[in-house]
Amino acid sequence: MSVRQNGEIINNNLLYNDYYKVDFYAPEITKNAKAGQFIHLKIAKLEDRILRRPFSICNVSNDGTLTILYKVVGKGTEHLSKLKKCDVCDIMGPLGNPYSPPLDDEIPVVIAGGYGAASTYLLLHNSQQKGYLLLGGRSKDDLILVDEYKKTGSTVLTSTNDGSYGHKGLVTELIPDVLAKNKGKKLRFYACGPMGMLMAVGQQLLKEGFDAELSLDHLMCCGVGACFACVIKVKANNEDGWRYARTCSEGPIFKASEVYYG
Ligand SMILES: Cc1cc2nc3c(=O)[nH]c(=O)nc-3n(C[C@H](O)[C@H](O)[C@H](O)COP(=O)(O)OP(=O)(O)OC[C@H]3O[C@@H](n4cnc5c(N)ncnc54)[C@H](O)[C@@H]3O)c2cc1C
Ligand code: FES
Repeated sequence: MSVRQNGEIINNNLLYNDYYKVDFYAPEITKNAKAGQFIHLKIAKLEDRILRRPFSICNVSNDGTLTILYKVVGKGTEHLSKLKKCDVCDIMGPLGNPYSPPLDDEIPVVIAGGYGAASTYLLLHNSQQKGYLLLGGRSKDDLILVDEYKKTGSTVLTSTNDGSYGHKGLVTELIPDVLAKNKGKKLRFYACGPMGMLMAVGQQLLKEGFDAELSLDHLMCCGVGACFACVIKVKANNEDGWRYARTCSEGPIFKASEVYYG
């Protein structure tokens, strides 16, 4: 169940380059939060921008700490980065559907790009089965949470478009190696990142005979299914073969096999 609560900032620090980590005290939200869900945040003291901003729940603790990791990309996130300890933000959450955890005999394989790695951290952190993180970015500066994922026992493979770290190329190019190394084992795939990457991951895995859970973090407005600002196309049994689905209330997680790629 989602609630609305005032979350007091415990700390808000620069992690690397444009990426920040903020911890809120928000026990009403953390107690129901699951991996893959998000919060809708009204950024304190941002009077000229009333819209909330969505952020994935990166981590939660039993003491009520809710962690999000964000990249400064515009006015809202820039303003958020200036907030200090004890500032209070109005938070709605947890919103959206969670990832389904891997079964005991399944190896989780997460494919993440940029801040998408924040959405999947809790999934591998909570997983009994040690899995894989395939992490891609434009350059080394976009590869976030590498050490944190390693601490979960996951095997971390990286790629960058400019070759500044790990494999030079696209993160999807790391998938065949994982498939080859795990022939005969049960793999369960998850992905979060830019839309282009998610579409490529979904289609590649379907071609290989696997499904995947894709977190489609589309632009959002109301965050609760009322405005249709966040729609994507999913398959449907109608004349067109597709319908619009709201990523905020029907997602953000969709099966790769549900998405309409036309
Ligand atoms: C479900 C969900 C989870 C998200 N989780 C995270 C997260 O964990 N960490 C994080 O840093 N960001 C996350 N985002 C994106 C985040 O909401 C936006 O970056 C933020 O709202 C931008 O606000 P702004 O005012 O700084 O930028 P604006 O001034 O509103 O926009 C600046 C630029 O960012 C682009 N932008 C805005 N929203 C998105 C989006 N959803 N996807 C891609 N580009 C966008 C705009 O098109 C524009 O080019 C998530 C989005 C969704 C829908
Ligand atoms: S953001 Fe309003 S319906 Fe999804």
